[in-house]
Amino acid sequence: MNLADLRTPALVLDRTVVMRNTAQMTARMKAHGVRLRPHLKTAKSVEVARLATLGNFGGITVSTLAEAEYFAAHGFRDICYAVGLVPAKFAAAARLAAEGVRVTTLTDDLATAEALLAYARQHDARFAILIEIDTGQHRAGLDPEAPELIELARSLDAPPHVRLAGVLGHAGHSYHAKGAAAIAVVAEEERAKLVRAAARIEAAGIACPERSAGATPTALCGTRFDGLTEMRPGVYTLFDLAQHGLGLCRLEDIAVSVLASVIGHNRTAGHVLIDAGFMALTRDFGAHEFLGEVGYGFVMEERGRARIDMLVVNDANQEHGMIRVGTNADYARLPVGARVRILPNHACATAAMHARYHVVEADEQVHALWERCGGW
Ligand SMILES: Cc1ncc(COP(=O)(O)O)c(C=O)c1O
Repeated sequence: MNLADLRTPALVLDRTVVMRNTAQMTARMKAHGVRLRPHLKTAKSVEVARLATLGNFGGITVSTLAEAEYFAAHGFRDICYAVGLVPAKFAAAARLAAEGVRVTTLTDDLATAEALLAYARQHDARFAILIEIDTGQHRAGLDPEAPELIELARSLDAPPHVRLAGVLGHAGHSYHAKGAAAIAVVAEEERAKLVRAAARIEAAGIACPERSAGATPTALCGTRFDGLTEMRPGVYTLFDLAQHGLGLCRLEDIAVSVLASVIGHNRTAGHVLIDAGFMALTRDFGAHEFLGEVGYGFVMEERGRARIDMLVVNDANQEHGMIRVGTNADYARLPVGARVRILPNHACATAAMHARYHVVEADEQVHALWERCGGW
């Protein structure tokens, strides 16, 4: 199959770029002596997971139980479900563990920890739990100095049913720091807060083996990783315009794009219409903080190599994207039926709108279809 045969809009993935992105991160983490546990919430694909864990020990991170079950079914045996656990999900996590998967999950909540132990004793289940630490994003997690940290750690130190696996934090606030130096400051905050939380737990006589950190910006810009055992970046596998805006990748490092067709011209309004609206691109504005005019994505020529002028998708309805070109533009340049590629603001969100990747390399052949895991 050729790119020209695809029904648009279609999600396109350049395997060569994914291989380069994953190899670079693997090499960087290896050089810093820290394990890489790639977050597969971005790619949600077993083929990308295999590339991301090449030359590594194979542990991965996921953001849904559906992903955990999907990757386990494809042979992954060390899975961190990095979202706060609730009692209604105990059984699913226990089922994976009973199948021989090393599952770690999170909590920052004492009542949940107590309910988990009661459940584990009742069902003779086994859980390994990481305490979520707030490393500065203020999304979730306990402050490393919180008095209740030790009480929570103690409640999770209940072998054989419940074991404290360690501490975990995610410096999501690194997305608001531009440039390597500013991001390195956030990375050090992330590292220091996890090391401090682990030290407090260990000073209370409780083992705290894992210190799991990471976001793509902190993995790429951190200068110290001592005291940490692993990093969990995810979006680096595909990259996107938000990462480009942070200065973390070039446009040619963005592995994912949406192939779209020109479906009309509105010379009065001054825009070209494409068949990629917010159902294909999302309404995510993640790249707006640090990029100038980016709209819903950069417009590239069909092969995805170069931008067409400085065009962007300025507006998006459900199945219509509007590219402002001006009333006096040369509309023949983008005739109805012509194809363009849109680079996404936020790869995780845009990819999630599609069921599969159409995998290309340097040519225009579609070499494979890689299914994505959806749902929760
Ligand atoms: C808990 C957790 N760990 C790791 C990541 C991966 O970070 P990034 O998307 O910056 O690669 C995320 C992303 O949201 C996350 O929520």
